[in-house]
Amino acid sequence: MADFMDIVKGRRSIRRFEDKAVPEDQLNTVLEAVQWSPSWANTQCWEIVVVRDPVVKEQLQAAVPATNPAFKSMVEAPVVLVLVAKLQSSGYYKGQVTTKFGDWFMFDLGIAAQSICLAAHKLGLGTVIAGLFEHEKAKAVLGVPAGYELVALIPMGYAAKDSAAPKRREIGEFTHYDRF
Ligand SMILES: Cc1cc2nc3c(=O)[nH]c(=O)nc-3n(C[C@H](O)[C@H](O)[C@H](O)COP(=O)(O)O)c2cc1C
Repeated sequence: MADFMDIVKGRRSIRRFEDKAVPEDQLNTVLEAVQWSPSWANTQCWEIVVVRDPVVKEQLQAAVPATNPAFKSMVEAPVVLVLVAKLQSSGYYKGQVTTKFGDWFMFDLGIAAQSICLAAHKLGLGTVIAGLFEHEKAKAVLGVPAGYELVALIPMGYAAKDSAAPKRREIGEFTHYDRF
């Protein structure tokens, strides 16, 4: 258990990267972590675009505001994993939404994102989940088809600079027993 908690607690958002490629087998392990993530009725609505082409990374960066702390990481990281979701799949049964929350793609991709970040950390790789950017612009860069949404960009590589852990709420502040 200590190992698992070390991974969970030791993972940090990494925003500066070394100019060093990610080995193919490590990338594959990270993708395997997505493959085995849970999803609504096992719909697996994720699609992952692995971006390594420096030109495409620059085009993606152009969709990110320069004020975003992850701005530099878009071109510095050797790989940017782009999380894309198929719409009207997760949370749907025979084309109809099944719960008040409608499409559950954000939930499923959130789990997949955490799988990526934890697996990468275990491999000695840093990641940062970026959600603040112009989604339509990024979609156009990658040619994401209709019926899909581009949810997050995850630059991944070897950390050039570690980040300090932002303070967490105490367990007692968010845990409720038997009633809210
Ligand atoms: C859905 C989501 C979107 C995020 N978007 C950004 C972002 O656009 N830019 C950025 O620098 N960090 C982003 N982050 C990283 C958070 O700022 C970070 O996880 C949080 O401050 C806690 O720090 P830690 O990851 O080092 O524990 C995002 C995280 C999540 C989960």
